[in-house]
Amino acid sequence: MRAISIQETGPPSVMKIQDAPDPVAGPGEALIRVATAGVNYADVVMRKGLIPSELPMTPGVEGAGVVEAIGDGVGDLAVGDRVAWAPVMGAGAVVGSYAELESVSADGLVPVPDDVSLETAAAVMLQGLTAHYLVHDKVTIGPETKVLVHAAAGGMGLLLCRWLSRLGAHVMGTVSTPDKAEHARAAGADELILYGEEDFAARVLELTDGDGADYVIDGVGRTTFRKNFDCLAVQGHVCLYGMASGPPEPISPLELLPKAVCVSGGMMTNFLRSRDEVLRKGSEVFDGVREWWLAPPRITSFPLEEAAAAHAQLEDRSSVGKMVLTVSDE
Ligand SMILES: NC(=O)c1ccc[n+]([C@@H]2O[C@H](COP(=O)([O-])OP(=O)(O)OC[C@H]3O[C@@H](n4cnc5c(N)ncnc54)[C@H](OP(=O)(O)O)[C@@H]3O)[C@@H](O)[C@H]2O)c1
Repeated sequence: MRAISIQETGPPSVMKIQDAPDPVAGPGEALIRVATAGVNYADVVMRKGLIPSELPMTPGVEGAGVVEAIGDGVGDLAVGDRVAWAPVMGAGAVVGSYAELESVSADGLVPVPDDVSLETAAAVMLQGLTAHYLVHDKVTIGPETKVLVHAAAGGMGLLLCRWLSRLGAHVMGTVSTPDKAEHARAAGADELILYGEEDFAARVLELTDGDGADYVIDGVGRTTFRKNFDCLAVQGHVCLYGMASGPPEPISPLELLPKAVCVSGGMMTNFLRSRDEVLRKGSEVFDGVREWWLAPPRITSFPLEEAAAAHAQLEDRSSVGKMVLTVSDE
């Protein structure tokens, strides 16, 4: 099979297409013919070596395709099933989606409805499941909730804007360019802040009559995390779930006292702890897609061999919405 291989960590150019032996489905696994692999910021972080991984490595933690073979002990799958996957608790490190074939833990596979394309499935699986816990499992979101979403025009950002606006929240988003602001607005954000040009905390206070944001969803990290506390409402909540700009500086617990605020961390696998939870949340994401309120964000597709170009766009902040790699025809 053809696969992207990383022999050493480094810039996007370390990703090379090469021939590799076909994997086999081990116990509890299914062998998938990959149609589309999702490109995620986590792939960039692993490629750079910021999350240590065994090398050589085929990157990719998300995709969609067709079951080609089934290992021992897999009960609820058949050859020919259309499925999508993302990392789930207890399934071990899921990497290897930038390839024509991947052996995936069956516990992490979600059936793709007939009326959802495999490209769409790959584009929403990981980020949809992440958005699911960020909007449902952290705070109660309602019409009065004022939410700040950082990087609101990214893959995560656009899905969050759609989901939060569906729940009636007042959505404020930060973005780096006016073009990105328009994409986030179309996805449901009420107010957009160009955080490279203006002080986002001061602007949030202005937009909320001094009250601040009830909930801040931060996947940017270093350049945003500390400032979030300047615009957090009394009893507000910040969830740090990523660090696209690098790891944030630590804060003292004492800083949480004056406004009784809460800080939490987000990591998707902690919210996908059983097969039932994976199937329920996965099917809710697909229901949202089919009902169109969770319409997939703009999808930009690259051939598998151009994975480096996709990574370069993610890193230089020129991407909008979701990027995927087309591996084979559906
Ligand atoms: N913990 C979890 O469960 C989980 C799951 C999925 C994703 N994540 C995290 O969520 C975040 C978003 O992921 P994504 O795949 O959807 O990426 P993305 O948002 O499509 O791309 C990252 C965005 O971050 C912003 N950014 C700000 N400073 C940056 C910098 N110095 N370098 C690069 N980008 C910068 C850029 O938007 P602007 O140009 O508008 O600033 C950029 O487009 C990432 O941190 C990722 O690791 C976490």
